Amino acid sequence: MQNYNHYLNLINEAIGNIKYPEQPAQLYAPIAYTMSLGGKRIRPVLTLMTCEAMGGDPSHAINAALGIELFHNFTLLHDDVMDRALVRRGKPTVHVKWNDNVAILSGDAMLTMATQIVSRVDDDLLRPILDLFNTTAMEIYEGQQWDMDFEQRSDVTVDEYINMIRLKTSVLLGCACKAGAIVAHADERNASLIYNMAVNLGLAFQLQDDYLDVWGDPATFGKETGGDISNNKKTFLLINAMNRATGDDATELEQWLNIDESFHEQKIAAVTAIYERLGLKELSRQAIEDYSQRAINLLAQVDMSDDARQAFQALIAKLINREK
Ligand code: IPE
Ligand code: IPE
Ligand code: MG
Ligand code: MG
Ligand code: MG
Repeated sequence: MQNYNHYLNLINEAIGNIKYPEQPAQLYAPIAYTMSLGGKRIRPVLTLMTCEAMGGDPSHAINAALGIELFHNFTLLHDDVMDRALVRRGKPTVHVKWNDNVAILSGDAMLTMATQIVSRVDDDLLRPILDLFNTTAMEIYEGQQWDMDFEQRSDVTVDEYINMIRLKTSVLLGCACKAGAIVAHADERNASLIYNMAVNLGLAFQLQDDYLDVWGDPATFGKETGGDISNNKKTFLLINAMNRATGDDATELEQWLNIDESFHEQKIAAVTAIYERLGLKELSRQAIEDYSQRAINLLAQVDMSDDARQAFQALIAKLINREK
């Protein structure tokens, strides 16, 4: 089994080899721009790692891995329009650098490119891989719509939040691993175990993303912090704050949730202070630990070498302690 950087290099080489037509420039330049800004590439790395851990040849999984990474990047283009996010990977988002229409249409083109690339898998795998890919895509759109719907609601439960992040984020990590398992011709038991492992890892991963949106360092995180607070996103933090706050904290939180956008900076500072007073930093760390432990428990049941299992364990630890 190889380390993260080995698989990362394979992916980056494949991304570097993608050729984009020159015209229309406003369609293709934003795609090249987005793909050139890096990112952790965890999904394609998971595909290649799973394929290798399950006895397959990772070079046969490269198209599935690459297509999944393009798909992920497409979701980011549209997500940044939906969230009005200004910075991604330390650079202006596509809708800021160009405009909303460009972000929408370039995103559409990325989705189709992603499907084309995924479809280059070996013929005997095409149907199971495409079924997995398309089912996952539909789930992500559902998750993204729940995320938006929840901004307007004040009665969202922790269970509803977990289901929303399972859909918007976790299933793509599950899909990435399962695609690697399918290419390796793993049996159904191992394929579902690794899928469920990655779904739990994905829950920890999104909880960590929400944590960094409050307490991360923007220079390292590569995104502006405070966006979730500003948008009244019903994160684990906000839901628990609404459940826990009493007295002045409850009144103040309620007021900030109804404030207009011009008080952006004050709102972020005040809500962060409420989170800290209510012990939510610790509560959120605990939830991240719990879901990563579930991932580790599932990993223990998958048939793979100790060496491969250690590589996954190292990746889990890296992702839940990440700062970007
Ligand atoms: C960002 O994903 C969207 C979430 C699901 C939190 P990543 O944190 O994997 O973003 P990149 O690809 O590394 O930039
Ligand atoms: C992103 O959730 C999930 C998808 C892009 C599908 P976020 O909105 O939290 O992701 P970031 O923080 O903008 O990367
Ligand atoms: Mg966002
Ligand atoms: Mg979002
Ligand atoms: Mg986020």
